[in-house]
Amino acid sequence: MAVKKNNTAIKNSPKHLLGIQSLSILEAKSLLNEAKKFIELNRSSSKKLDVLRGKTQINLFFEPSTRTQSSFDLAGKRLGADVMSMNMENSALKKGETLIDTAMTLNAMHPDLIVIRHRESGAPNLLSQKVNCAVINAGDGRREHPTQALLDALTIINRKGKIEGLKIAICGDILHSRVARSNIYLMNMLGAEVNVIAPKTLMPKSIERMGVKSFTNMKKGLDDCDIVMMLRLQNERMQGSFLPSKREYYEFYGLTPEKLKFAKKDALIMHPGPMNRGVEIDTKLADDINVSLVKEQVELGVAVRMACLKKYCK
Ligand code: CP
Repeated sequence: MAVKKNNTAIKNSPKHLLGIQSLSILEAKSLLNEAKKFIELNRSSSKKLDVLRGKTQINLFFEPSTRTQSSFDLAGKRLGADVMSMNMENSALKKGETLIDTAMTLNAMHPDLIVIRHRESGAPNLLSQKVNCAVINAGDGRREHPTQALLDALTIINRKGKIEGLKIAICGDILHSRVARSNIYLMNMLGAEVNVIAPKTLMPKSIERMGVKSFTNMKKGLDDCDIVMMLRLQNERMQGSFLPSKREYYEFYGLTPEKLKFAKKDALIMHPGPMNRGVEIDTKLADDINVSLVKEQVELGVAVRMACLKKYCK
């Protein structure tokens, strides 16, 4: 396994899902096809399978989560696994135990898979080198959030029938966003054209190297786009002042019905959540079922996580 010190180019061993960057196009497409099969199951009255009967899944969330943690929890249970979600508030971390000692402790209980979210970029990669089971990254620092990108891709395919040839705008706090990074890798891999839109202070330097066009102006960046993906301001990752005020940010970068007109007529809106209504998105627009895919993203998140658990929990 080739490991670089900055954790940006770590090759997945076959049993881990550490990032989109190290997935092949075949693996990504296979996960999306498998996830499609779970959509109907999740809408039916009997949702339980025994694909993972006898397997133990541990969810280890060191950062807050509503969507990702609950959907991994449900996904594991629907596939028949024994799922244990650690309550990190009451764990020995509070007594100073390190991530590695926590991992070694859990590893001694023979889990088959650990799902981890951590504020440090590269923490899932480190964990994967210390345990015997599969590891799935549920979001690490500003690096990657692979299952979010996969569920976003599935949502787009479900509505637009394809990703290839679409023009996708990702708008907001690109600098601190793991969702942006994973989506840039995946949407490019699947043949979309990607625009990123942000104020200069929230745009990573040399972002064009990732194969995107960058804009500081919503009108130019949204031109002719099929999908408008809005991002949350990641205040918890900001040290210092990145913006004059939230009101000014909303005026220039908040998605409103007026700004949406810059995109294609049939453009659809996405947001990974949690949303800051009135900061990055107009509250009515966020709930408008004619244009907003936010609820569908959450729904399909369970199907995508079921596909990931089925593939990696061996
Ligand atoms: N999109 C996402 O990761 O949401 P949560 O923080 O609620 O898991």
